Amino acid sequence: MRRISTRYLQPGMIVARTIYSSTGKVLLAAGMRITPKYIKRLHEVGVASVYVKDEFFDEPEKIPDVLSEKSRLETTRLVKESFLALETNQRLNIRAVKEVVDSIIDELLSNREVLFHLADIRSYDDYTFFHSVNVCILSLMTAITLGYNQLKLKELGIGALLHDIGKIRLSKKLLNKSEELSSEEYQLIRKHPEYGYEILRTYDDVPLLSAHVSLQHHERWDGKGYPRRLAGEQIHEYARIVAVADVYDALLADRPYRPAYSVNQAVTIITRMSNTYFQPRAVAALVSNIAVFPIGSVVMLSTGQTGIVVDVNSNYPTRPIVKVVFDQYGNKMPKSHEVDLTRLNTVFIAKVLSEEEVCKLFKGSIPEAADL
Ligand SMILES: [Fe+2]
Repeated sequence: MRRISTRYLQPGMIVARTIYSSTGKVLLAAGMRITPKYIKRLHEVGVASVYVKDEFFDEPEKIPDVLSEKSRLETTRLVKESFLALETNQRLNIRAVKEVVDSIIDELLSNREVLFHLADIRSYDDYTFFHSVNVCILSLMTAITLGYNQLKLKELGIGALLHDIGKIRLSKKLLNKSEELSSEEYQLIRKHPEYGYEILRTYDDVPLLSAHVSLQHHERWDGKGYPRRLAGEQIHEYARIVAVADVYDALLADRPYRPAYSVNQAVTIITRMSNTYFQPRAVAALVSNIAVFPIGSVVMLSTGQTGIVVDVNSNYPTRPIVKVVFDQYGNKMPKSHEVDLTRLNTVFIAKVLSEEEVCKLFKGSIPEAADL
């Protein structure tokens, strides 16, 4: 099983993981064979990548999830409802927000050994909702690593889930624009933290610090952010965490103007942004929770052989278990074998293959349904 861009989908491939919309509707179920009609439909609804089966690795259930599919969908639906409620001048259901944040915290605390895997596939339209849920999960995992207590986790979780609620006052056209923005348009977008704060302050049952997460999530550690150009410890610690989670998750998403970065690239980028954009401590805590080479990625080892990551070691995120399937000349090996990189000190991952390289390598290896 591997994740491939919708661009590279070919009729005959088989879906490995069900794709849902944010309302929980099944867009394409696991086990279905891709047809030209499905490919067209996926493009139409803006799904940019799909997990497909391959002959080398067929255990989608092996991908651990920090949060169950059920909680993820419930939370996404709630965020969507919250945005819709405000659009139609209704009040936010803060009690429901608090309940889902509580249940996410419980689930994360009971899955402490699990690394964050990006397992969901999203469409452009639903970007904000999926993104809000991921930012909430990533922020809470970071805070758990930093030793936060329940009360702080709760305040942070509410703020993280609703950090972009101020975008409700911006036009959809502006938010989804794929061309470069004019400086006036930038100024408008930069208002959303203040709008979010104004909205959340009208609720007595939203903690003040959660509202500050919305206000401060675009401030920068070096003081060059907005709206108030706060620097270093002037920025509330919750907002420092959410700022990292926000950028990290945005890099992993396919956007109308660019495809998603790989996990490895995204981790490198946010690590480089440490000290300028972000507090280094918050970056380190977030990165310690990430499966740097997620299950299903195709990697080249320092030996020149290529294989698929089939399992991760939570204590050694850069040393997963790799199923080696191609030799150093790119030929398929007669028999694949697994190597546990925690046990082989001299071998390391030289690079993660790009989507194009993977497609070339796997060419002609679309499995027949009978083989699966
Ligand atoms: Fe934002």
